[in-house]
Amino acid sequence: MDLYKANTKNIEKAAEAIKSGKLVAFPTETVYGLGADGLNPIAVAKIFEAKKRPTFNPLILHVANKTQLNEVCFAENRLVEVLISKFWPGPLTIVLPKKSIVPDIITAGHATVAVRMPLHPVALKLIEKSEVPIAAPSANAFSRLSPTKAEHVENQLGDAVDLILDGGKCNVGVESTIVKITDSEIFLLRPGGLPVENIESVINTKLQKAIADTNNPVAPGMLPFHYSPKIPLRLLSRIKIENINPDKTAAIFFRNNNTGTKFSKEIILSKSGLHTEAAANLFSALHELEKENYELIVAEEFEEVGLGRAIMDRLNKATKRFESI
Ligand code: TXA
Ligand code: MG
Repeated sequence: MDLYKANTKNIEKAAEAIKSGKLVAFPTETVYGLGADGLNPIAVAKIFEAKKRPTFNPLILHVANKTQLNEVCFAENRLVEVLISKFWPGPLTIVLPKKSIVPDIITAGHATVAVRMPLHPVALKLIEKSEVPIAAPSANAFSRLSPTKAEHVENQLGDAVDLILDGGKCNVGVESTIVKITDSEIFLLRPGGLPVENIESVINTKLQKAIADTNNPVAPGMLPFHYSPKIPLRLLSRIKIENINPDKTAAIFFRNNNTGTKFSKEIILSKSGLHTEAAANLFSALHELEKENYELIVAEEFEEVGLGRAIMDRLNKATKRFESI
């Protein structure tokens, strides 16, 4: 595995790697992606191998322009046009009817494909230079924490990835919001980096929550647990502080520690109380803490408005597997 600074020369090198069917981890505004040529099924299969995903879950195709978008899906729909003109490039993924050029391994055999145009100069340059849409899940091992820095990718995937482009820390820090659009309806599949309220104010309707059924591929992000650190993580609101040992516990707070208990280590996500800053720091805080020897990590609950919804979605999923502890 090669780790390169994301300058023009190295982005070109990475594009060559994509073209020759290799795996490249690259920064986006949300999290690092593990990319491959989205039109090459053998290259895409390597993504599942590297992540050790137990099943072939559908992947997002990342595009750099509208020509690429129209190559892979049917996007002629007023709702889609409004959302794209307002929010792309940016942390919004749209699930649309796919065109036949898209390999089945991308869509897990479904008739729809997820597409997004990332708001990151390195990602956009890499897609342009590769001259193909890039398939990329988050560059973490299956069910582990999402990477917001190149070193997170290096630690989790190591030699399973051919090349990592280091573009510094991702500034959104949680994955994209995913919506599915049918003829005239729009469903929320995953809350993420674009607040639901921003979408609703542009389309003038409430987003409906997608019900997972057999016609509606369940996003792994919709599985009950996901994004978990190696050390047990619990929400502060769901435990009794008297039952834990604060000397062996690390705590994550939004603005400040208002519990009256001193923990072995305390991380404040945003002193100034900004959800954007808290989201950007969430996964890196968890990565930092899972490397150390705490018995437990506790996290403060967020109000579910704006990005608070995506933060709580990730925290709820990350804590799920530890709830019996
Ligand atoms: O911010 C992001 O979205 C990041 C960066 C790298 O772009 N990517 C990401 O990919 O989070 P991943 O694979 O970790 O999550 C993609 C989600 C999965 O939960 C998948 O099931 C869902 O998108 N998905 C993909 N195609 C779909 C489809 N056709 N229908 C429904 N859900 C789909
Ligand atoms: Mg993921």
